[in-house]
Amino acid sequence: MTNEEYIKAIDMRTSRRTYKARALDKSILEVLKNMVDAVNEASGLEFQLVEDGTPAFKIFSGRFSYIAVCGEDSEAARIKSGYWGESIVLQCVYHGLGTCWVSGTYDENKVYKAIDLPKKHRLYAVIVVGYVKDKLSAKEKLMYNATHKNNKPYQKMFEVCDKKLPPYYEYAMKLVEKAPSATNRRPVHFRYEDDIIKGYVDEPYSDKSLDFGIAQLHFQLGAAAKGIKGEWDNNGRFCTENAKVIKFPEAENDEKVNIQEDNENE
Ligand SMILES: Cc1cc2nc3c(=O)[nH]c(=O)nc-3n(C[C@H](O)[C@H](O)[C@H](O)COP(=O)(O)O)c2cc1C
Repeated sequence: MTNEEYIKAIDMRTSRRTYKARALDKSILEVLKNMVDAVNEASGLEFQLVEDGTPAFKIFSGRFSYIAVCGEDSEAARIKSGYWGESIVLQCVYHGLGTCWVSGTYDENKVYKAIDLPKKHRLYAVIVVGYVKDKLSAKEKLMYNATHKNNKPYQKMFEVCDKKLPPYYEYAMKLVEKAPSATNRRPVHFRYEDDIIKGYVDEPYSDKSLDFGIAQLHFQLGAAAKGIKGEWDNNGRFCTENAKVIKFPEAENDEKVNIQEDNENE
């Protein structure tokens, strides 16, 4: 999918909890399986596809499959899971499927029984995937309204912002506002200092790191759409080729005078 198509999917996406009674076709399951394999190969994560997800969920209706989002017990693996999981979500949404990230309202024991979790790995969440009607059901509208009562604008996600955000980062942050997060809490703290964007969450060994990885992908897609190619590093910094900051070392007062004098003599 192109960058533009991913952004279209961001605008189309909302969490879906009412699915059609028809299970996913074999051909779709095969595509999902290939996506899961590709993600695992690229990232070292342990995502797994479960074809019939229905028994493990109460507040979701209809039939659906899910991807169990698993990996090592580290902050980095959780962030990566958010990032890669959301890339699957956006591809599904673009192709007309309904999705929902779930880390709370499911029967974990049933999921453990359905997957084959390697030792020392953790199940962080699942991504539900199924067929949906275009319009939200009454239950879905209720959930949406309840979780979107107090939307946090991106300005409130900034802890430090030492100058006005350039338009390309403003746009990227607008896409972060559209990122799913558990209970829509939008927990990532951002800082913009010395032309560099940095993010972090308070409890890195929780699903807040999934939220951070999801936000990272949305931000990266937004920046790329505005011509800023970059990647998030392991310290939560968005590193770009064209936003590198080269700073002169702090000059002593005397040296500053000398430089000025030299300039005047030229
Ligand atoms: C990591 C994560 C965990 C979530 N867990 C649940 C959950 O347990 N149950 C649920 O109904 N929705 C869950 N959600 C969906 C959020 O409630 C939803 O993304 C948020 O309210 C924003 O709504 P939207 O996705 O429609 O934009 C989760 C989302 C994320 C990213």
